[in-house]
Amino acid sequence: MLFTIKNEICTFCGLCADDCPSKVIKIDRSSKTAVIKNEGCIKCSHCGMICPAGAVRVDGKELTPYPKNSGGAAELFDHLILSKRSIRKYNNKLPGSTDLEAILLAGQLTATASNSRQVDSIIIQSPEVQKTAASIARIIQNVLRLVRNPIGRNILKLAGYKRYADKALLGNFHNRMSNVIDGKSDVLFFNAPVVVILTYSKKGKMFGRTDCALAGQNMMLTAHNRGIGSCMIGFAEAALWNNRLRKKVGVAPDRRIGLIFTLGYTDRKHLRYPTRSKWEI
Ligand SMILES: Cc1cc2nc3c(=O)[nH]c(=O)nc-3n(C[C@H](O)[C@H](O)[C@H](O)COP(=O)(O)O)c2cc1C
Repeated sequence: MLFTIKNEICTFCGLCADDCPSKVIKIDRSSKTAVIKNEGCIKCSHCGMICPAGAVRVDGKELTPYPKNSGGAAELFDHLILSKRSIRKYNNKLPGSTDLEAILLAGQLTATASNSRQVDSIIIQSPEVQKTAASIARIIQNVLRLVRNPIGRNILKLAGYKRYADKALLGNFHNRMSNVIDGKSDVLFFNAPVVVILTYSKKGKMFGRTDCALAGQNMMLTAHNRGIGSCMIGFAEAALWNNRLRKKVGVAPDRRIGLIFTLGYTDRKHLRYPTRSKWEI
């Protein structure tokens, strides 16, 4: 899958570069060039979905635009599911309590294996979200200090993380964490006003993670239906192995984290569906 930008159509507005999670798009307004560096691109299609001019091409083709007419209830429901995207930019508007309650209810009523009902939620709201992001960033920096030296990088390579053993990449990562700590830019929770942590019992039944994933997806779809964006944050989940931090965010010692996601309103408007590998019938 090759992502390119038709420079003859592009208005160089920069929305694609801003929405790109991998930051692999370079826009040069003076020379009127926009280029996608395909190495490092995770092929999520966000550039093509958001481009107002329709300038992004995937293997030479434009992405499928959202339908002009909403159609019937079935089409509306399909569109709701197909247009659910990971949102990484939030505005200042806070989700209201009615919406939050509906989102929680969607999670509570989701099926669990053998109806174990082992899923529970922790809701973190601003300004606690930003404080939590800073605490997580400090933990990540501590780990980075251990692996940034030649021995640490060799261990990373031996452990199969060759991609992350790059000195410049680790340094850049460290700087990005400093920005989170200083409140300059939040690459963890994207300044979302709400973060939801779904947990399940350590001693409980099997399928705790699956139960959390299902509840989380229903919650995010309910949010999407109400114009509220979301993004799963595996990154934060990975950093929350630290017991002190887990306690700080309210995860009881007998619980495991199953899913973490952000919630918030966005000004981002995606206009097309993404492209993905086809599943054959
Ligand atoms: C389990 C899981 C963990 C994720 N963790 C992160 C994360 O830490 N940060 C992030 O920006 N996106 C995260 N994502 C979002 C994916 O990067 C996203 O699904 C992908 O870019 C495709 O975009 P879309 O969801 O808009 O279709 C995660 C998604 C999943 C399913």
